[in-house]
Parts: sequence; C-alpha cells; structure tokens
Amino acid sequence: MQVIVTKSYDESCQVVAQMFCELIRQKPDCKLGLATGGTPVPMYKKLIEANKAGEVDFSRVRTVNLDEYCGIPATHPQSYRYFMDENLFDHVNIDKANTYVANGLGDAAANAAALEQKVREGGAADLQLLGIGNNGHIAFNEAGDALVAEAHIEQLTESTINANARFFASREEVPTSAITMGMADILAAKKIVLMANGPAKADAIRGLIGDGRITTQNPSTLLKLHPDVVVVIEEELAKAAGWQG
Ligand code: GLP
Repeated sequence: MQVIVTKSYDESCQVVAQMFCELIRQKPDCKLGLATGGTPVPMYKKLIEANKAGEVDFSRVRTVNLDEYCGIPATHPQSYRYFMDENLFDHVNIDKANTYVANGLGDAAANAAALEQKVREGGAADLQLLGIGNNGHIAFNEAGDALVAEAHIEQLTESTINANARFFASREEVPTSAITMGMADILAAKKIVLMANGPAKADAIRGLIGDGRITTQNPSTLLKLHPDVVVVIEEELAKAAGWQG
C-alpha cells in the first residue's frame, strides 16, 4: 500500500484528479469505479475543469458506481445517481449510457444482480475510487462480524446514518439500507485509490495504514490484501492517525 501525504485536502484532490486524467489519456475507453460522499466532490470539480480545458476526454470512458441508497428514486437530490449527474456527469463529455449507478428501488435481489453484472462486464475496473466512513466502511460495506463478497443489500449502521444525516433535511429521512458492491467487487479493481480528509476519519485511517492487521470491524483493512492501493491524505489527518511515514 502506498500512502501519499499532501499539504492540504486541495492538494490531495489534485493528486487523485491527476491519476484519473493520466489513466484516461493512456486508455480513453477505461472503466472507472466511482464513489460518492462529500470527500470526492472537489476532486470531481478538478476533473470537470480538466475536461473543460480540453485536457481530458470522457467520451469513451465507462463508469460503475459503488453504491446507492435503497428506497429513494434516482430523481431524489440525495440519491447517488443524482449526485453523480450533478457533481460530474452533467459537466463533462461523458456518454450517460456508459455510466451505471445501481437502482435503489424495486426488486432488491434483481438490483444487486444487475450491479454485480456491471462490475464484471468488460472486465475489472482500471481504477476504483474510494472514500471511507468514520467506522472504516468502504462503499456501504459496514463494519461488523462478517463482510459480503458480492453486490448485496446492506443495513446501514447508526454511525453511518448519523454521519450521512447532514445531507438530508432530517435524520429520519436517511435511508436505512443501501445496495452496494461487495468486498470482492472492490478488490477486483486493477488499482484502487482511497481519499480521506478530516479528523473524524483518523481512527479508520489508523486501522488502514497503521499496521498490517485485517479486521471486518474496519472493512477498509481488507484493502491490505490488494497489490495496488494508494491512500491519499493530508498531513493533518496523517498526524491524527499516527502515521510515522
Ligand atoms: C457514504 C458512502 C461511502 C463514502 C462515505 C464517506 O457512506 N457510501 O462511499 O466513502 O459515505 O463519505 P464522506 O466523504 O462524505 O465522508
């Protein structure tokens, strides 16, 4: 695992955006695994700027998103489809037909099977973007006694519902379940980049980069099984997580 410590969150976003731009230039029809949450938003802004400046062309890029809330339609402003359209897809020259965000409504088993198929279609993602939850969850694979390999429906923990309540009008409106890629789906990507910022992530990041232990209580630690993972954090978070370099 490679850990990149930057001077600022903005620099972290620059580093990650650069990785995406380089990949897309090298492989214009690459397959990207994308993530939502507050963390990647400024990084997506940089991709939009690069696209507008003619530095990167999304016309042949394919994307699959990690997860989606259950019980809200794609038109809901907090759905992850809406998020992706608003924060990236509507502002770059991507073909929306080449983007996939799971369906959170209707037959859950069929929706999970459809997500699993998209993960596999055309081979592994060239680059998978990840954020991390305060409890170490990645996508919506929650901390607990067991993790699930393939795409599935996950009941969200109190910690995750509380953390995500800031995006909704009230805590009661936060969906209590989500459809998510499983751990094997994430680990199947050729390369993974995880970005995090802010002190709330310190414990989760300590578990990820502090030692060699793997535990389902911090799902991000399973990334230690992958040969090509890059973690990008700013120095304040690195310090809070006890990173020695
Ligand atoms: C959600 C998403 C995750 C994301 C996490 C952290 O639970 N399913 O993919 O990493 O939130 O989000 P934030 O970046 O807002 O802290």
